Amino acid sequence: MTNSVVISGSGLWNPPHSISNEELVDAYNAYAQQFNEQNADEIESGAVTAKPFSSAEFIQKASGIRSRYCYMKDGVLDINRMRPIIPERSEEELSDQAEMAINAAKLALEAANKTAEDIDVVIVSCAYTQRSYPALAIEVQGALGIKGFGFDMLVACSAATFALHRAYEMISAGTAKGVLVINPELTSPQVNYCDRDSHFIFGDVATAMVVEHADTATSEHVFDILSTKAITQYSNNIRSNFGYVSRANDVDPYGADKLFHQEGRKVFKEVCPMAAEHISEHLERHQLTSADVKRWWLHQANINMNTLISKRLLGREATAEEAPIVLDRYANTASAGSIIAFNLHHKDLQSGDYGLLCSFGAGYSIGSLLVRKR
Ligand SMILES: CC(C)(COP(=O)(O)OP(=O)(O)OC[C@H]1O[C@@H](n2cnc3c(N)ncnc32)[C@H](O)[C@@H]1OP(=O)(O)O)[C@@H](O)C(=O)NCCC(=O)NCCS
Repeated sequence: MTNSVVISGSGLWNPPHSISNEELVDAYNAYAQQFNEQNADEIESGAVTAKPFSSAEFIQKASGIRSRYCYMKDGVLDINRMRPIIPERSEEELSDQAEMAINAAKLALEAANKTAEDIDVVIVSCAYTQRSYPALAIEVQGALGIKGFGFDMLVACSAATFALHRAYEMISAGTAKGVLVINPELTSPQVNYCDRDSHFIFGDVATAMVVEHADTATSEHVFDILSTKAITQYSNNIRSNFGYVSRANDVDPYGADKLFHQEGRKVFKEVCPMAAEHISEHLERHQLTSADVKRWWLHQANINMNTLISKRLLGREATAEEAPIVLDRYANTASAGSIIAFNLHHKDLQSGDYGLLCSFGAGYSIGSLLVRKR
């Protein structure tokens, strides 16, 4: 048996609903107008800050986002609610995130030519999990009839790459024969749709990948994982304070600081150079340069970040073929962005072509995998 670890299949599941910038901005602006009218006296006295208006043009120019998928559209555009309506399921029913995960997992298994019997580890890794325990991964494992073990991981935008790293290590070490890495990114409940600066950023989606030994891989598109690289550096610039301790803190568990918030400019300035340096160092480890990489499956948070990073790496802007952008349709889907890019843009690569998957985001956290098509 060789020691080669491969990605042998990926899956992508979109929720059925999508929301365009125009729809989102119309609802936000109507909400802001109502808020300003209802609080006119306090705004006049300076006790309350008026809500600024949003614009679809700004969103597209500043982020590249045109629309986003939403697990449940109902409620998001209701100016008296401004959050999705997701009815609570009973403990006997499959949870929402497990269902999303299973939808993507089935597609990844099919692409990898695998069944539940070929998998012995399930990792559900994403930016948020809807409960603490039992692990979503174990729920998914049970529903798919997989023997072995499963666990959840939370690493914000790097949850998918960091989980693939763990899968790579388990296959290399011989402690697993087939690992299903799943990223059910249900971000919409954490979006502050009342905040002009962040209401447009996120979308919902689920992605999955199968990682196994090259010797057992039988699918058409198999990628050797040549190596992995990760780095984290503590930063408060992207943060969510939602958590179980709020109950004991006697604070509003759904207050604005409990939802996604960021210092977007600082994130941009600090993360872009970190990511470019990280990727260069990763390639140097293999005596490769950016020119040797055929495809960049980069994290999908903001088109300007991707443009800047690829300019630093290549000395010019990457073409859409070299570094595909999916955030125009999907928005920022937390850790799933680079996996969506891979899922939609890998079949044309030829044997021997190098590709690089890289996430960057909250933590800060950066995770990459250098792969080569078999
Ligand atoms: C979030 C982000 C797109 C905002 O873009 P930006 O150019 O930094 O925007 P700013 O917040 O500084 O605002 C620029 C101007 O547009 C205005 N503006 C901000 N949001 C707006 C909106 N939705 N509609 C209209 N105008 C808006 C601001 O008021 C500001 O006006 P001013 O210059 O008169 O003060 C950008 O900072 C970014 O991409 N950051 C990277 C971080 C990221 O994507 N993180 C996601 C998690 S990984």
